[in-house]
Amino acid sequence: MAESTKSAKLTIDGKDFELPVYSPTAGPDVLDIRKLYGEAGVFTYDPGFTSTASCDSTITFIDGGQGVLLHRGYPIDQLASKSHYLEVCYLLLYGELPSAKELEQFESHITHHTMLHEQMQNFFRGFRRDAHPMAVMVGVVGAMSAFYHDSTDINDPQQREIASHRLIAKMPTIASWAYKYSIGQPFVYPRNDLDYSSNFLRMCFAVPAEDYEVNPILSRAMDRIFTLHADHEQNASTSTVRLASSSGANPFACIAAGIACLWGPAHGGANQACLEMLKEIGTPDRIPEYIARAKDKDDPFRLMGFGHRVYKNFDPRATVMKQSADEVLDLLGVENNPILATAKELEKAALADPYFADKKLFPNVDFYSGIILEAMGFPTSMFTPIFAVARTVGWISQWKEQLSDPHHKIGRPRQLYLGETQRNYVDIENR
Ligand code: SDX
Repeated sequence: MAESTKSAKLTIDGKDFELPVYSPTAGPDVLDIRKLYGEAGVFTYDPGFTSTASCDSTITFIDGGQGVLLHRGYPIDQLASKSHYLEVCYLLLYGELPSAKELEQFESHITHHTMLHEQMQNFFRGFRRDAHPMAVMVGVVGAMSAFYHDSTDINDPQQREIASHRLIAKMPTIASWAYKYSIGQPFVYPRNDLDYSSNFLRMCFAVPAEDYEVNPILSRAMDRIFTLHADHEQNASTSTVRLASSSGANPFACIAAGIACLWGPAHGGANQACLEMLKEIGTPDRIPEYIARAKDKDDPFRLMGFGHRVYKNFDPRATVMKQSADEVLDLLGVENNPILATAKELEKAALADPYFADKKLFPNVDFYSGIILEAMGFPTSMFTPIFAVARTVGWISQWKEQLSDPHHKIGRPRQLYLGETQRNYVDIENR
């Protein structure tokens, strides 16, 4: 925990209260209000936590004004171009880039945990074929706590380590099997001779009837998408995982809670919603109509893939994702993809419109990822499951960090109560 180097004074009803102020290694100072209720008898009020730090962390730093995203101090654009997803997983989990030997051992651990307990296939078959894959992932990941009892004791560091490896390793298998089940094709087992992203693409697109060769450019693009979605400070789903973990819930239950939260269209579901919006717009000539709707206060429509709670300049991940989109579509010979054309025109039109510029609404990570995933052959329903696969390492890293804090306690916010004060029950004959 940072040392308090200064304090802030708060005056309430003529009485002064000193609040310790902590200075971070990067970002804004924080006021420590932990004793405020005890000393001043008041709560703070911050629905949506726009100005509230829920924890201290050393994993990821975001500067929304400068469009900066650091994982353990390394900029996301350098990691996306020079590293690969499993190395970023190691960095997020352990705090440093691995040596060649450490990386080899880590990748071997992950590779040898990719299979699912055979009996878990029954969970998939309990769903309707048209179930959303996110429903399947919430269910199957939660069910892992019923199969892997030897890694549910959160107080045992060894079990925490095994649970971390199992979750990172098995998420691609679970996501790909949810996809296979939805299209009535047989499950494809992971292969130990393939890297993480190639394994995932093969489990999604291979069929028993013929060999499947992974295109190295597509697996590189898949790996980059995983890397760009790996962690993002205290976003909604990560905060959900931390809150679930604060009650002592097992790691599989905590990650299932994170998946459930990520599903929402305002969060991880935005990549699916964004592509569906681009398809609904259809052609660039219809963009003005949708821009007008997004600006209309009486219309709940928002431009999916635009805006961000923290980034008020640009999302550095969107910049990298845009480069990948051009590469993948060029490779697939669909650089004339009408959806990409509409996306680029929409981005241009929105950024030229004072409404979006004034409100700092720029394309976020979800704006281009959906275009790449669609070009790779994924249905829109698989976009958020892929986000969940990538974000599992971020959730797990933040979960481990919270558990390693000896002072962590159950999360239990208070409220501003505006309901009825106490009143007596009225018998039904008197109502
Ligand atoms: C992710 O937190 C994270 O880090 C998330 C994430 C991660 O990696 O974990 O980065 C991943 O979730 C990215 C965001 C994906 N969501 C979308 O693309 C959905 C569309 N975006 C919006 O729903 C919205 O921008 C949010 C939810 C992302 C952010 O909302 P905020 O910061 O709470 O802002 P707000 O809702 O208070 O909006 C501020 C103003 C409002 O207008 P006023 O009431 O001030 O007049 O901007 C407007 C909003 O109406 N606005 C939009 C808009 N987003 C905000 N108007 C049109 N289109 C939009 N997309």
